[in-house]
Amino acid sequence: MAINLPFLKLKDRERTRVLAVDIGKFSTKAVYITLANGRYTFAGFTIVQSPDNILAFNPETVASLLKNIANILKLENAPTAVSIGPAFTIIKTVEMPLLPVVELRKIIKNNPKVYLQQDLTDYVFDCHCLPPQVSSQQGSSPTTIKQRVIVGGAPTSVVNNIASGIRAAGLQAEGVVPGMIAPINSLEHTLGENLSREVVAVVDLGYETSLICVLDHGEPVLSRIVPVGGKHITEELTKVLKIEYTEAEEIKTSTPEAALITLEQVVRPLGRELRALVDFFEHQYDRQVTRVFACGGSASSPPILQILESELFVECKTWNPATGMDIALPPEQLARFESAMPQLITATGCALAVL
Ligand SMILES: Nc1ncnc2c1ncn2[C@@H]1O[C@H](COP(=O)(O)OP(=O)(O)OP(=O)(O)O)[C@@H](O)[C@H]1O
Ligand SMILES: [Mg+2]
Repeated sequence: MAINLPFLKLKDRERTRVLAVDIGKFSTKAVYITLANGRYTFAGFTIVQSPDNILAFNPETVASLLKNIANILKLENAPTAVSIGPAFTIIKTVEMPLLPVVELRKIIKNNPKVYLQQDLTDYVFDCHCLPPQVSSQQGSSPTTIKQRVIVGGAPTSVVNNIASGIRAAGLQAEGVVPGMIAPINSLEHTLGENLSREVVAVVDLGYETSLICVLDHGEPVLSRIVPVGGKHITEELTKVLKIEYTEAEEIKTSTPEAALITLEQVVRPLGRELRALVDFFEHQYDRQVTRVFACGGSASSPPILQILESELFVECKTWNPATGMDIALPPEQLARFESAMPQLITATGCALAVL
């Protein structure tokens, strides 16, 4: 199952390369991936600091950020997709008539409240159909047979601003991908069929928030934004250790073993919040989450993952988004790739959504 929800996929043509950019509150991650003869090549990446107020998605700010990234990666006129965070997108799995995606989009656009329980005017929507359950519905007409559909939506203004920014940077606008879908795409690519045999949770440990999403045999069934991210871990370290933010950040990222007990103290509450959602899922659906997969900046930290694992009571690890891909990185990028992997997962999943 690959979930494709690029809101402005222009036409269904074969794509052979994409610059995929994950715009975060703290940092912007970009990967360049090519596709030839069914094989992906991980051909470039960079991580830059996000400009102040980037999440207003002002087209000029987006353009200058993307121009900088294209320069660093030496790309011209590249097809470009952007992933945006869950605060700007809605994702919901709903039951809809068995109709083609173009029809489903129109139905959602005209009746957002019926399907999404929210009045979403000036939104763009896209749909990904899950396999229909037809066994008990034989003989019914297509409009009465139901299918489960993942619906994604984003404000038209945000999507248009990003598209303008991409074009103003001299790049081709290929898609805007919900940040919740992107890591799922990457995990699906990495685990393959195994994902459809398990119940797992994906956790994106961001800057001010973290996102947890439970995948029941590959299908996202429950998600929540937790208001704790890397920034709070650092802030708590400053309070407990009575040091400045930059010093706490340095300890957290470079020498966490020097402050393990304190780190444990400040990361445990995040683990408990994540466990609460896992507990909720397990009671509600009567199934156990067997593994947790983490991405985002804080997932680069083995001690943070260990602390989360001990609170979650299930294995918690990150993954290599380039699994199964050929790697063709310049030496200086190759040297940094392993430590950057957790931060590149969302951008890679964004690329997979449009390639
Ligand atoms: N090696 C590391 N160890 C611990 N924390 C790290 C490490 N590298 C980065 N971080 C933390 O990750 C956080 C930023 O994560 P990330 O880049 O995923 O955020 P973002 O994508 O910009 O935010 P968001 O997704 O919320 O918009 C920062 O707080 C930073 O301190
Ligand atoms: Mg992020």
